[in-house]
Parts: sequence; structure tokens; C-alpha cells
Amino acid sequence: MSDYSVLPVPPMSIRFDQAAGTLSPAGPELTRRMSDLEGLFLDQNAWRTAVADGDPIVYSVVSSLVPEADRELPQSITTIQPGSTGGEFWMTKGHQHPNHQGEIYLGISGRGGLLMFDGTDTRWVDMTPGTIGYIPPGWAHRSVNVGGKPYSFLAVYPGGAGHDYGWVLEYGLGQRVWRQDDGVAFGGYFAEASS
Ligand SMILES: [Fe+2]
Repeated sequence: MSDYSVLPVPPMSIRFDQAAGTLSPAGPELTRRMSDLEGLFLDQNAWRTAVADGDPIVYSVVSSLVPEADRELPQSITTIQPGSTGGEFWMTKGHQHPNHQGEIYLGISGRGGLLMFDGTDTRWVDMTPGTIGYIPPGWAHRSVNVGGKPYSFLAVYPGGAGHDYGWVLEYGLGQRVWRQDDGVAFGGYFAEASS
């Protein structure tokens, strides 16, 4: 992403404050509001209403100083707020790595899930504190908060992997994750909205 700068980083320690979900020293921070998730929720009318009704922060990402450069190993902590739009749980935009490389997520707090799609098959990994989710090369991925509190996870990924968000807009993620009573339900990605 263009707003990440490439700097030489020496051997270093990075302080992770689990309660605050922050990294220190801190690198770039990113905030995604509802308006940044255009075209991603199935119910577009509900999405427009949410944008008009305060355009809430859906998730934020704090990164360490390790740059997104080839052979580096950057880290970031993403926090997804609890909520749903048109019945669909709040989530990240999701992306594919243009340079197909793996990634790991570590659940920190809250209750979420890791949705993965390789263009044919879909996988879902329940993410609770202490769970390591593995994303193999070639699998697009999205995180979803399925709980009532913020869901945070640590990501560690190859710096040269890149982020292709358009892949998800074109091919989807195989399934959608719906709020159902107190639980979770899955449905087809490109199904017509019921309203
Ligand atoms: Fe990724």
C-alpha cells in the first residue's frame, strides 16, 4: 500500500500491549469506516443507511515499523468492532496476496473467524484468544467479528505479499457470515439480498 514507507529496520523488540491492542513503537495506522466497505455487504441498502447514519468505524489496523518490503516480515493488529449490517457480521474488506504467500493470524481478544477462499473451496476457522489461523498461499482471506465485543488479532505476513482488494470484489469469498439469533449462519456469497 502506498502509505507504507520502506525503512531499514534493525533487530528490535516490539512491545505488544494486549489490553490496549497496540504495538510500540508504532508504525502506520489505518481506519476503515463503513463508507470504505462499498460493495462488500450483500444488502447495499442497509450499507447506505449505515453510511448515512454516522459512517461508523468498522475496523482499525495498527502496524509495527517493519516495512511491507520483500523478505521483511511485518506485523499488524486488527480490531474489528462488533456489529452487523443487513444481518451480515462486520468484517474486514478481505484480500488476496498478489504474490501468493502464506500468513498467520493469532487471536488476541474477542470472538471472530477467518474466512478463506481459493476461488473454489471455502474454509472457516473459529478464532478465539490463542488460536493461530493459517492462511496458505493462494487463499483470499477476510476476518469477521461474530461476538459482542471488539475482536482483535495479530497478523504476521511476508512483506512482499501485497494486498489485492479488487480480487474479493470480483470473485467474492465463497460464503457470507450472518448473525442468526445468538449464533452464526453461512450463506452463498452472491445470493440476492432478501430486501
Ligand atoms: Fe493477508
